[in-house]
Amino acid sequence: MEQKRYPLGATAAFGLEGVVAGELKRLGFADAKGFHGGASFQGTLTDAFLANLHLRCADRVLLYLGRFEARSFDELFEGVKALPFEELLPKNALVHVTAKCARSRLMSVPDVQSISKKAIVERMKRVHSMGWLPEDGPRYGVDVHIHEDRVAVTLDTSGQGLSRRGYRTFNAEAPLRETLAAAMVTNGPWRPWLPFFDPMCGSGTLCIEAAMVALDRAPGLLRPFDMERWDVCDQAACKALRQEARERFEAKKAEGKPEIFGSDVDTRVLNLSLAHLRQAGLAGLVQFRCQALDQAQNPFPDAERPGAVCTNPPYGERLLDVQAAEALYRQLAGLMQRLPGWGLQAISSHKDFEKVFGRRADKKRRVYNGRIECEIFNFYPPRPGK
Ligand SMILES: C[S@@+](CC[C@H](N)C(=O)[O-])C[C@H]1O[C@@H](n2cnc3c(N)ncnc32)[C@H](O)[C@@H]1O
Repeated sequence: MEQKRYPLGATAAFGLEGVVAGELKRLGFADAKGFHGGASFQGTLTDAFLANLHLRCADRVLLYLGRFEARSFDELFEGVKALPFEELLPKNALVHVTAKCARSRLMSVPDVQSISKKAIVERMKRVHSMGWLPEDGPRYGVDVHIHEDRVAVTLDTSGQGLSRRGYRTFNAEAPLRETLAAAMVTNGPWRPWLPFFDPMCGSGTLCIEAAMVALDRAPGLLRPFDMERWDVCDQAACKALRQEARERFEAKKAEGKPEIFGSDVDTRVLNLSLAHLRQAGLAGLVQFRCQALDQAQNPFPDAERPGAVCTNPPYGERLLDVQAAEALYRQLAGLMQRLPGWGLQAISSHKDFEKVFGRRADKKRRVYNGRIECEIFNFYPPRPGK
């Protein structure tokens, strides 16, 4: 049966909108376009599931229910009530409304939430001729986003944010979000067939995300999505997509272990890395070792090709002071001299990272690591013969 197509959106952190649009295009959504805060595309509910399962760098996949203008709470109420919620929500849906307001006449988030919720309940009671709604069914997250008096009402198909792959349950200090780590490993000098080395790996996020890329492991394979519990969602099609993703991973795993190595000076965080690796279903597929940065050497001296170092060192803000962070950046430069032909990717908020490291980056990307404004610095190895 042909499914209805909807306007969809994959939300993304600042700086990653273009990355997510690129991921969507590679997944087959040729119309994907970046916008402030994400990337838009069109598709069926099964397409939304595919995006949830495979997007590495996006935060959530949203389905746009409607857009309208509202300058008063009455207009908001009528605008929300006019949307066809019953097409997707069952009578017993557990509706959870969130809201965001910016540069608009309606700026009270709690009021926008409660008025929108009332409007949804009102509509559902009317179309189903019910006096009250039990709300004991599957969860439906509805987001009401008001920007310059324009309202966008979306349904959250993901549930928990997509950075929650299900493997990272213990937190080391200053960990990198999985989605940002994935954006680094997929947009720098590293390629999935090359050796990968994070010499300040902390709880292992960059190594685990790299391993998932190298092994063609869908990031969402081990976690559920809210939309899988919805009656309107084609459960058999979603199961088949999960099974196909599992088979791709198993086939790649059978080809051999990737060359991925993480080290850190702190044994406690390395234990977290090992636990996370196990929880990601990747036990034994990444090597970890306790070692200080100034002792680090090429972890794959017999590899056919040079690889890439990819790391999230202390910035001198949350971890270490500025002088200690700068000393590490100089040690990182020393490591790169011991790794001829390797590329480097590092993220830092330090304004003089390149000066301290001693080289200008070939490419940079401005991003936020939590609330900290950072840059991702990419240093490519010289091309053979140059
Ligand atoms: C910002 S954290 C890395 C977090 C990691 N990306 C994650 O997601 O968990 C920086 C790491 O550098 C490590 N580190 C600090 N000094 C080091 C040194 N001299 N040699 C190796 N690692 C060091 C710390 O132990 C810490 O785990």
